[in-house]
Amino acid sequence: MRSLFYTHFFFPIFVIMKNILVTGGAGFIGSHTAVELIAAGYGVIIVDNLSNADTTCLDGVSKITGIKIPFYKVDCCDKREMQKIFQENEIDGAIHFAAFKAVGESVQKPLMYYYNNISSFTTLLEVMVESGGGNVVFSSSATVYGQADVLPVTEETPRKTAISPYGNTKQICEDILQDAVRAHSGLQGVILRYFNPIGAHPSALIGELPRGIPNNLVPFITQTAAGIRRELQIFGNDYNTPDGTALRDYIDIVDLAAAHVLALKRMTDHKGAGKCEIFNVGTGVPVSVMELVLKFQEVNKVNLKYKITGRREGDVEAIWADTSLANKILGWKTSRPIEETLANAWAWEKKLRGIIS
Ligand code: UFG
Repeated sequence: MRSLFYTHFFFPIFVIMKNILVTGGAGFIGSHTAVELIAAGYGVIIVDNLSNADTTCLDGVSKITGIKIPFYKVDCCDKREMQKIFQENEIDGAIHFAAFKAVGESVQKPLMYYYNNISSFTTLLEVMVESGGGNVVFSSSATVYGQADVLPVTEETPRKTAISPYGNTKQICEDILQDAVRAHSGLQGVILRYFNPIGAHPSALIGELPRGIPNNLVPFITQTAAGIRRELQIFGNDYNTPDGTALRDYIDIVDLAAAHVLALKRMTDHKGAGKCEIFNVGTGVPVSVMELVLKFQEVNKVNLKYKITGRREGDVEAIWADTSLANKILGWKTSRPIEETLANAWAWEKKLRGIIS
């Protein structure tokens, strides 16, 4: 049964709320996207097997929105369970985040990555096709560009052969969505290529919560500042960049989440099945690892212990986005300066660890 709500107290106008299935909705990007979807008037249903998340962010989403979101602890590779979710709910579209994401681990366990990341996506698409189709947003990554020859990268920049099984699963899933949308008239798709998502919700009720030792820079920084990690290693200062450390495009998590809402709106406005568009989601501004570390310390008034070590295998030297397509077609733009994003990341870590300052 679809949810209905009143738009006016005295003269009720029924509006059909569109329900979006968010796979991997207990995770970092998924939970922030759930908040933005609810704020935009969508109904949200979350499915997550909690293999790389717990319920902390689900509780946070409820606190921020005041809504208890329907949650299924289900593996997206489990077709029967996915079919049940579609039978129990009127689902208009899906945003697919559920995937393993550690680059290094994917090199050690390629089969686990290929099975999980591809199977979960094809299962979702199969079940959607069986139930008449819908709009799908696929969470892709700047990793598909590898080390691009020309910067910034546009959506037309050729993809490079992936250097990790993780990166390969992103490329394969992009292709799967393109093919599926072409073949099944009820499906529409948008592929969002994220650059480096960082930060946390300004409420500090949801944020990044990696299991074990963080792979990514900002959670490693916040955990070092919180005293959980002894020292940050800066992987390489001999790159051909202004200060020798690698350049990335760090995008605020709430801004990134907002792009998903606009991607759904784009598909709804389009009403043209058979289409699958691609958008870069970054800031367009390259920031070096060293700059980010210094900025974090300055903004949050903390001292970080760090040392320069050798390059990390598989890292590209520099990548940042040309975001003009998302700006123009989706009407999306970034809204938060990086200082605020870094303050939010630290506020979240402090709240999580009970640090009062
Ligand atoms: N870095 C450090 N020390 C750390 C962690 C990272 O110096 O402890 C450096 C990295 O070497 C890199 C930069 O910080 O230069 C950013 O590293 P992240 O691990 O935060 O992010 P990546 O750019 O490697 O990874 C991101 C996404 C991946 C995606 C990848 C490919 O998190 O999902 O981009 O573009 F696959």
